[in-house]
Amino acid sequence: MTRCRICGGQVRKFFDFGRQPLSDDFRAEEDVAGAYYFQLAVGACASCSMVQLLEEVPRERMFNYDYPYHSSGSQRMREHFAQTARDLLAAELTGPDPFCVEIGSNDGVMLGVVKDAGVRHLGVEPSGGVAELARKDGVRVRTDFFEESTAAQIAAEEGRADVIYAANTICHIPYLDSVFRGVDALLAPDGVFVFEDPYLGDIVERHTFDQIYDEHFYLFTATSVRDVARRFGFELVGVKRLPVHGGEVRYTIARAGARPPAPEVEALISEEARRGLHDLDTLKGLGAGIDRICDDLVALLRDLRERGARVAGYGATAKSATVLNYAGIGADLLPCVYDTTPAKIGRLMPGSHIPIRSAAEFGRPYPDYAVLFAWNHTEEIVAREAEFTAQGGRWIVYVPSVRIL
Ligand code: SAH
Ligand code: TYD
Ligand code: ZN
Repeated sequence: MTRCRICGGQVRKFFDFGRQPLSDDFRAEEDVAGAYYFQLAVGACASCSMVQLLEEVPRERMFNYDYPYHSSGSQRMREHFAQTARDLLAAELTGPDPFCVEIGSNDGVMLGVVKDAGVRHLGVEPSGGVAELARKDGVRVRTDFFEESTAAQIAAEEGRADVIYAANTICHIPYLDSVFRGVDALLAPDGVFVFEDPYLGDIVERHTFDQIYDEHFYLFTATSVRDVARRFGFELVGVKRLPVHGGEVRYTIARAGARPPAPEVEALISEEARRGLHDLDTLKGLGAGIDRICDDLVALLRDLRERGARVAGYGATAKSATVLNYAGIGADLLPCVYDTTPAKIGRLMPGSHIPIRSAAEFGRPYPDYAVLFAWNHTEEIVAREAEFTAQGGRWIVYVPSVRIL
């Protein structure tokens, strides 16, 4: 039996992807033998409703100097984080000497804007490579995992934070108890802890099951975030649905009693209850969708191969590891994947060992079909690669179902 990381209750499994590699583990051919595998299975706690993975991968295996994901790799995300910074500056960072801490600041895409406004800031980022990129832009970063001890040290050295912000990071942290105790140590009495992560409600609705991989330990809802916040003396006072990464929610958390909860919080929690979002039957329905999508995608790729069509993948996303490895798609069905990230180019996709080529080579020559693994950046990529479709190329997407665009 697996115990809930939050409350110790029983986690009931609703889907099992089997043995899977680490989704951001892009290796050179000579290094693939040493790859780490774990059991990727997901369940819901019968007591507190938190949806979580059943096996935890040691954090240093995922987040280290070589972590390849660069937040600035998408124009739309750069705009999103610039807007986020402006919103925080206007609403929360208005006192005489405000202080903003970001957990998982990556290459500094958000904090760079805070820095440009002349506001005191600190990123906490364990992955040394991306942290160096942020420092090159003048952003202050502490190369460390955020947890209770780190937070207490920052509070002692730099004082309390008015804002603690995190994007696509809190769901990566199994030890949420330590995170909340850290927020308690670091946050000013009337400060806010703001974080945004993929929303289980969108994952179930849009069948975006590839959001499930090693790094995404939790799949949050307003209900589960409210409940975990309460355990540590905090209150969920705001929720905002965001269109990025296929649907996320931004949660605003304050010390209990410090701020009145906005009406949207109760509305979203009621909607989640109406939808039965934490019921095992609903979650098992997602599982049926996963099998259908993977079967359809393999059938389409086989059909295209038989017809002699040239097919490639686009976007060496972390998400795609779940799809490729669960569906059993290798280089025989999909000979290569194109991507813009320097640290991924020339490496192999984890588990499937499909080679990654520079997106600059996409048109030399264009394939007939391209599977869009970065489906969350569809508009941006389809616009950038307009020449592909102009020359007769077709995009294939697989969420919410397999389709040729
Ligand atoms: N905020 C960025 C990066 C998301 S990727 C964005 O939204 O694009 C997740 C980041 O969290 C990685 O850079 C990873 O190194 C970092 N991370 C993982 N565990 C962490 C922890 N305990 N404390 C701080 N950062 C962490
Ligand atoms: P993303 O979907 O943001 O995240 P994850 O890895 O967490 O699933 O990753 C986008 C990937 O797609 C990243 O490797 C960069 C790549 N990419 C391109 O190759 N071209 C583009 O135009 C964009 C926007 C992204
Ligand atoms: Zn629980």
